[in-house]
Amino acid sequence: MFRMTFTIAIDGPAASGKGTLARRLAAHYGFRHLDTGLTYRAVAKAMLDAGMPLDDEAAAVDAARAFDIGNMQRDVLAAHEIGEAASRIAVMPGVRRVLVERQREFATRPPGTVLDGRDIGTVVCPDAPVKLFVIASPEVRARRRYHEILGNGGEAEEQAILADIVKRDERDMNRADSPLKPARDAHLLDTSEMTIEAAFRAARRFVDAALGENS
Ligand code: DC
Repeated sequence: MFRMTFTIAIDGPAASGKGTLARRLAAHYGFRHLDTGLTYRAVAKAMLDAGMPLDDEAAAVDAARAFDIGNMQRDVLAAHEIGEAASRIAVMPGVRRVLVERQREFATRPPGTVLDGRDIGTVVCPDAPVKLFVIASPEVRARRRYHEILGNGGEAEEQAILADIVKRDERDMNRADSPLKPARDAHLLDTSEMTIEAAFRAARRFVDAALGENS
C-alpha cells in the first residue's frame, strides 16, 4: 500500500477554475502538484503520435505505463484534439487502473501534494484530508475559456466552446467507470460569481483547518 502524504484533492468539470486553484494552493503550501488531466492527455497524445486507433485499449494501457509523468508538456498537451481524444481514452477501465496507480504513487511525495482531476476525492485519494469540488455554470466556464484563448492571441467562438463544454461534461459525468461527481465529504466551491482570489481564500480556510487537525 502507498502511504499518502498530506493531499489536497480537487475535482470539477473542465474550465471550472480547479487547475488555477490547484497551482495556487501548491505554491502557497510548498506542495507538489499533479494535473491528472495531463496524464490522460499524455496517453492520448502517445496514441495519436503512434497512429493507433483510439479504441485500442491494450495499446492505450501500454502507453499509460510508458510515458514520463515528470515531464508532461502542458502547452503541447493543451491542444483541443488531444483533449477530445483524452476524454475517449478516459472511459477505458484498464487505462484508468494504470493511471490511478501512478497518481497514487505521486500522492506519496513529501511534503504534501495537490492533485486535480475528476475522480481524485472519490477514487484516487478517498482518504485525502481536504477535498474540494469546484464548479461554475457552463456559460461562465465557456466565457472564461473564450477570454483565455483570446488572451493567448488565438481565435475562438464562444457558442462553439459552450457546446463543447456541455458535451465534455456529459461524457465525464455519465461514464460507467469513475464518473465526475463530488465525494460525500467534499467542500463545494461554486466559482460562477467568485474571483479566483476569493476562491483561493475560501480553499485556504478548508486546508488550514485540516492542517491544524493533522498537526
Ligand atoms: O481536465 P482535462 O480537460 O485536462 O482532462 C482531459 C480528459 O481526461 C477529460 O475528458 C476527463 C479525463 N480525466 C479523467 O477522466 N479523470 C481525471 N482524474 C482527469 C481527467
